[in-house]
Amino acid sequence: MTDEVEWWEYEDAAELADAVAGDLQFVIESAIDARGTAVIALAGGNTPAPIYAKLAAAKLDWKRVTIIPGDERIVPLGDKLSNVTMIGKTFIPKGARVMPIVPQATSDYKAAGRSADALMQDLHWPLDLCLLGMGADGHTASIFPGPDYDEALSGPRERRALGVMPEPLPPEAPVPRVTLSRQGIVTAKALTVVITGAGKRQVLEDAIKQGESSRYPIGRVLADVELPVDIHWAP
Ligand code: 6PG
Repeated sequence: MTDEVEWWEYEDAAELADAVAGDLQFVIESAIDARGTAVIALAGGNTPAPIYAKLAAAKLDWKRVTIIPGDERIVPLGDKLSNVTMIGKTFIPKGARVMPIVPQATSDYKAAGRSADALMQDLHWPLDLCLLGMGADGHTASIFPGPDYDEALSGPRERRALGVMPEPLPPEAPVPRVTLSRQGIVTAKALTVVITGAGKRQVLEDAIKQGESSRYPIGRVLADVELPVDIHWAP
């Protein structure tokens, strides 16, 4: 599958943000032209913020766009760790329908995953676009090693979201998660990965080489893609 991957390199994060925002705009416009609506999943974390700022400035019919976070930390809405809160700040003022996938914090992460999966039934599938980030440990969305790893990677085909208890908990957001499954991700009509820094680049190159047996979650996820994947990188 490595030939399905295309790397795009930029001088810096600002140049990357311009280019990726342009690509995302094109994908969203194409979906709206074809079907009247677009349904996209956006990454959480810090790296995509400049991309979102640029994308939100694009001239798009935002009320036709539904956005979900590709993964969510199980925290109350409004929490500084909440991915949908971060995404919503940028896109709700534009008129987009930004859907929380964890509408309220709960101690039962498995139940939160089942609710998110049920909620996904109301969306148009496959996703028009899934934008992924990657942690320095090689996780993507919230697919982490731990008790839910197999279910995230190889659960039933129709399972699009599930609850995940990362093991160990990642220090930047040490909470259970809800994530799109591998199946939910790899079926997207456009799959885009955005990373910065030499360390993440090395991890991603290794993960892609390792493929299906990768020690990194992103290696396992990308081993299953059918459509080309665009990877955007800046130092
Ligand atoms: C999350 C994410 C996650 C993110 C990486 C990278 O909620 O944790 O969606 O998959 O993309 O952790 O995060 P940074 O961009 O902050 O390094």
